[in-house]
Amino acid sequence: MDLRDFIKLCEEAGELKRIEKEVDWDLELSHIAKLNEEEKGPALFFQNIKGYNTPVLTSAFTTNKRLAIALGQPQTASLCEIAKSWMKATTKKLIPPEVVSTGPVFDNVVEGDKINLFDLPVPKFYPMDGGRFIGTTAALVTKDPDSDWVNLGTYRMQVLDENSVGVQIIKGKHADFHMNRYKELGKPMPAAAIIGGDPLNFLVGSTLVSAGVSEYEIIGSLRDEPAKVFISDLTGLPLPYDCEIILEGEIDPVERRQEGPFGEYTGYYSGKKSDEWPKPFINVKRVYFRNNPILWSTTVGKPITDTHMIQSLNRTATMWTDLENMHIPGIKSVYLPPESGGRFWGIVSVKQMYPGHSMHVGTAVISTTTGHYGLKGVIVVDDDIPADDWTKVFWAMSMRYDPVARTQIINRGRSTPLDPALPINAREICSRIIIDACIPYEWDRKPLEIQLDTEMADKVRSKWQEYGF
Ligand SMILES: Cc1cc2nc3c(=O)[nH]c(=O)nc-3n(C[C@H](O)[C@H](O)[C@H](O)COP(=O)(O)O)c2cc1C
Repeated sequence: MDLRDFIKLCEEAGELKRIEKEVDWDLELSHIAKLNEEEKGPALFFQNIKGYNTPVLTSAFTTNKRLAIALGQPQTASLCEIAKSWMKATTKKLIPPEVVSTGPVFDNVVEGDKINLFDLPVPKFYPMDGGRFIGTTAALVTKDPDSDWVNLGTYRMQVLDENSVGVQIIKGKHADFHMNRYKELGKPMPAAAIIGGDPLNFLVGSTLVSAGVSEYEIIGSLRDEPAKVFISDLTGLPLPYDCEIILEGEIDPVERRQEGPFGEYTGYYSGKKSDEWPKPFINVKRVYFRNNPILWSTTVGKPITDTHMIQSLNRTATMWTDLENMHIPGIKSVYLPPESGGRFWGIVSVKQMYPGHSMHVGTAVISTTTGHYGLKGVIVVDDDIPADDWTKVFWAMSMRYDPVARTQIINRGRSTPLDPALPINAREICSRIIIDACIPYEWDRKPLEIQLDTEMADKVRSKWQEYGF
């Protein structure tokens, strides 16, 4: 499935709206998209951007239905169910990509002085943004110089001039590992920003996959067929053959330029001023684009946009995958709600089988690839409570939880420089809380839960209308 197939499927399902009226790339487009996303509206296809011929797609993933369409799942599936099928696919064998010689992305190839990134209708999203952000759905492709490990990472990208794109690669991200190694070697890092192609390039590019595992392999296992890539003669990188747009070049591992600020997914601007936090940038040497390319964007900003839905889905899936790979018994469901940015809180439902089982789960969660980074809290509930049922989760936190007896605070965990709850100069470390809202397994005398009398409930249901309802 490429982006055009996805757009067609959304349109057939009544999940996409074409906007024909002229719209300005400068704030107007993003404001339409944001307000639409807050209403859980359709994906938007802006066909008429002021001064441009290229259309822009936004809001692709704001609903479970469109996430399900992208992943070939039933359109009625809940986010938790989609994440579970993701977990099942990725705990099987991963499928490496297949190399092909060409593809539709070769329709147009522009190099050197002919490159002008302002030829694309790149949106400015929020009033205090430092500029126009071309990469909100883009994934950066890089390769470890010492091995075959190819990484895809979704890092925001700002157009700095005609052929430079600033990239916010946060410390400890996989492209950061690669970049540090290139720095040691004293060489520039080959890099490419990919936009479009399989919609999973974005969904999986923004997923916390373990170091050393290529996102292409995860895409392969989710599709149950290899992702198709060509090997670039410019950088040697494997790049998807069907992207809408690819910006290819190199990143100097030492040089930095001012980038940002940007209205981030936390609902706040990104924190440090751009001169306090200069960023690496891609020196773009070649641009590939399909005939009639589509620029794909997402609005980020305050929850809930499709960014939060994506993070909720892919982080729920990877946390569940890790717990499964750790062979922890009894896991019933996992959920990182979009309201928490899709990352700051996690809930796990477990069927307890031994004393301390619920804390086994809680401590495992904060050790997973997803849970070790930025997570502020995990709530563990019994198996009668689905992790994505807020009403029941609050009931458990009220009726089964005693803060002093069943809370663990972890003082030092890895955090994100984008967390506005932390002081501006100390955002690398945060604390975490584990809330064990399960009835302790070892209790002899457990609270006696009220259940309706089954026979009477059936009788009442059968006579429901007679009561005047
Ligand atoms: C829309 C969107 C924008 C993101 N922007 C950034 C960013 O600017 N920098 C960053 O380090 N991570 C960003 N992330 C999170 C990363 O995509 C995520 O941590 C991913 O795991 C990074 O890939 P890696 O694990 O291969 O490093 C963003 C995620 C989304 C959904």
